[in-house]
Amino acid sequence: MTHRSVPVVRSRRLAPVAVAALLAAFAVPVLAAEPAHAATPLRTLAAAKNKFIGFAAATGPLANESAYRTIAQTEFSQVTPENAMKWDATEPNSNQFNYSGADQIVAFAAANNQVVHGHTLVWHSQTPSWVQSLGASAMRTAMNNHIANVVGHFASNPVVQSWDVVNEVFDENGGYRSSFWYNTLGASFIADAFRAARAADADAKLCINDYNVEGVNAKSTAMYNLVSTLKGQGVPIDCVGLQTHLSTQYGFPGDMQQNIARFAALGVTVRITELDIRIPMPRTSAKDATQAQYYTNVVNACLAVSACTGITIWGFSDKYSWVPDTFPSEGAALIYDENYQVKPSYTAVYNALGGGPDNDTTAPSAPANLAASGTTSTSTALSWSASTDNVGVTGYDILRAPGTSGGTFAVVGSSTTTSFTNTGLTASTSYRYQVRAKDAAGNTSAVSNTVTVTTSGGTGDTTAPSAPANLAATGTTSSSAALSWSASTDNVGVTGYDILRAPGTSGGTFAVVGSSTTTSYTDSGLSAATSFRYQVRAKDAAGNLSAVSGTVTVTTQPGGGTGGCSATGTVQTSWGNGYVVDPVTVKNTGTATITGWTVTFTLPAGHTITGSWNGAVTVSGQNVTVKPVGWNATVAPGASVSFGFQVSRPSGNTATAGGFACTTP
Ligand code: XIL
Repeated sequence: MTHRSVPVVRSRRLAPVAVAALLAAFAVPVLAAEPAHAATPLRTLAAAKNKFIGFAAATGPLANESAYRTIAQTEFSQVTPENAMKWDATEPNSNQFNYSGADQIVAFAAANNQVVHGHTLVWHSQTPSWVQSLGASAMRTAMNNHIANVVGHFASNPVVQSWDVVNEVFDENGGYRSSFWYNTLGASFIADAFRAARAADADAKLCINDYNVEGVNAKSTAMYNLVSTLKGQGVPIDCVGLQTHLSTQYGFPGDMQQNIARFAALGVTVRITELDIRIPMPRTSAKDATQAQYYTNVVNACLAVSACTGITIWGFSDKYSWVPDTFPSEGAALIYDENYQVKPSYTAVYNALGGGPDNDTTAPSAPANLAASGTTSTSTALSWSASTDNVGVTGYDILRAPGTSGGTFAVVGSSTTTSFTNTGLTASTSYRYQVRAKDAAGNTSAVSNTVTVTTSGGTGDTTAPSAPANLAATGTTSSSAALSWSASTDNVGVTGYDILRAPGTSGGTFAVVGSSTTTSYTDSGLSAATSFRYQVRAKDAAGNLSAVSGTVTVTTQPGGGTGGCSATGTVQTSWGNGYVVDPVTVKNTGTATITGWTVTFTLPAGHTITGSWNGAVTVSGQNVTVKPVGWNATVAPGASVSFGFQVSRPSGNTATAGGFACTTP
């Protein structure tokens, strides 16, 4: 079902006011689009706040419009099928299940590292008439069978993580909605539905979902009481969905955060499941601004309560929104306009999630416990306790002042860890050090405590040894490199050598990985088939360091053991003209980790793949090749990953795909 074919216009919230013609007279003809955001996607910002940000997906544009797909995959970390998992889509006739739209959306989410929220199992709307006319016993059986099949179809797919088990069971006064479910089965259908969903998937998060429950009111209090009762009875309910279909003309529920918090206190998580904020048409800048403020308020309410796991926007572009079809004279409820340009509401969400350019004015905390150790005549090693920051600490500045008092602290280095070694100091000399933390927005913390260091008495020796020469690799294994070099000379005496290593064949930083008192060193614990560069420098007793030697590049041997893999396909469910193979288990049968795999199999004549998840599928004739989607490429010895796919076949044909084989990579 597309968003254009709403079968029943359901009245929602207050009756829409028919003032469109009047408002049109005051229309602002052109609204400037916001500049496109090249900046951080919403999903990255949300992840930094430990929240998901999602959208309701419509199957049509997802299949047909690349502009829609690009935004969908770039900006969002979560997907809710807008219609494709509803009863009329998944079981239009009794016990005839169709997952084509649902599988399409799940495959898209899997390919884009997104999670899916299943919507919805038991609802009075978009449910076929054959269900509505059943008697009590048959209706209960049909409900349990529907839940077992739909939840079961996705139970082994890690992408589908949660379900709206029941939807909209309350009326506005806090009574149960007089739906065919309630009128036929009584309120017990609710607990039964949750138990059936848990039986079909032991891990999925199971939710109750409704509208007009964003603030504290009679309806949300009825929901609160029901969740409390169900939990008390041991009914498996994990979360509460606040649909959050708001309109600027009815005001913002100012106690939304308080409402989320009271649900959280019951031990359930809360999700904003269907956020849209419609305006009385036409758009004006003033209405856009009010709408943007409401979006800000919703994001802030969710951010303020850790049990609020995230926000799903009910679509993202005004080109595809249920609002104009459902609420006459209202529209423009989403964060992109009909031409996929961001609106002020997008910027509101972006900024509230912490993405605003100048949004972060909070400095990190000051580093604590600054201490010095290992002070020689020329160096000292500093370490401190990490700072914290609302966004993230990006590094530390190390400041130094001369002597034990007076003078000025100046930056002498920086570190992205909580330690730093300051070299090139003078013997028998005092220095004071402080450290401060920085964040990405350029805020710097207050300075740490001050530590005073006095270098050891020098011997008066300030002459460094000569640089080691003829550095060579004398042997490599898959995990080690043996190095040797010619001895350095020194006016007093060489006491040892530092061995420095940088990653790869260019770039990166050389860091000390060991030391040696001889002219050889074996560096171990390396990764197989990997390149490293080494340098060596000489030290003397006074701490003078030589210049570094020449650089030698080493590539470790390929790893030991062999990689190998097997593929096994399991037909999960089948019907007259199609079937689902899930999982296809790809097992590493070798003794070394594999970093890629290729599974091939054959489709019987007339069979075509209609959907897939967790695998990159290419089809040539009847031969199918599947490669990893990225995150499931690497498999340890003995471990397995999986993918799945759906096939349509000629009616009456009972053959299934076969001949599964696996090779690496
Ligand atoms: C709406 C869809 O957006 C429309 O495309 C469809 O025609 C009707 O349903 N509450 C819900 C959603 O739980 O499933 C509804 O979605 C919007 C209200």
